[in-house]
Amino acid sequence: MLLEVNDLSVSYGDIEAVHGISFHVENGEFVSIIGANGAGKTTTLRALMGLQNVKSGKILFDGTDITDMPAHRRANLGIRIVPERARCFPQLTVYENLRMGVYGRSSSLKNELGSTYELFPILKERSDQYANTLSGGEQQQLAIARALVSSPRLLLVDEVSMGLMPKLAIQVFEVLRSLNKDKGLTILLVEQNALSSLKISDRGYVLETGKIEIEGLSSDLINDDRVREAYLGS
Ligand SMILES: Nc1ncnc2c1ncn2[C@@H]1O[C@H](COP(=O)(O)OP(=O)(O)OP(=O)(O)O)[C@@H](O)[C@H]1O
Ligand SMILES: [Mg+2]
Repeated sequence: MLLEVNDLSVSYGDIEAVHGISFHVENGEFVSIIGANGAGKTTTLRALMGLQNVKSGKILFDGTDITDMPAHRRANLGIRIVPERARCFPQLTVYENLRMGVYGRSSSLKNELGSTYELFPILKERSDQYANTLSGGEQQQLAIARALVSSPRLLLVDEVSMGLMPKLAIQVFEVLRSLNKDKGLTILLVEQNALSSLKISDRGYVLETGKIEIEGLSSDLINDDRVREAYLGS
């Protein structure tokens, strides 16, 4: 098992946002956590990356207890996050942002740059342009690319379709699907867009106000009455 989360609770001051959730991701799997606004998706991902302290529970990565490990050491182990409303380094060029992505990993940018530009051709065109002059959608692509150039072992993706026009959102989901199916990249995606994420993932968890209420194969969740009613609008 690549990622194992046991009874994880996370709070902000006195307010607990995530209440003892347990889930796992196998090597090579594509898992989604779906949930509404405020369900605790971002909180969970940030705790996995080490950007948010946990109140209790355990996080194991490839058998190692990383619950209290600082974020940069988790990055060195090969965990990468594409954050919500993905921010890039605005005063760096596209290329320089990508160079930041390999920091702490043994892979070299040269090896990964070609395939990354292939996935996101617009970034090649814009490689010398400052990141803050990219459109929102282009910055989103840069954030994914920046996570990918380090050849991560586990990619955490937070609400990647937000702010993208539908056609681009579909393309980004397709890129994630292909990275998983063709390249074997292990992905944990959190999304409000239940249908799009369940369509491309193997398994899913439904997070409601900080608790996992339903879990199963994505193909089963798509047909689950509770999921259909709450998240698929039918
Ligand atoms: N820095 C913070 N301080 C206090 N409360 C917070 C903080 N960040 C999040 N929360 C609260 O924790 C809960 C979970 O928030 P979180 O951002 O994890 O939700 P989410 O599922 O990612 O929602 P969204 O889909 O809107 O991004 C919410 O009730 C939120 O108000
Ligand atoms: Mg969020």
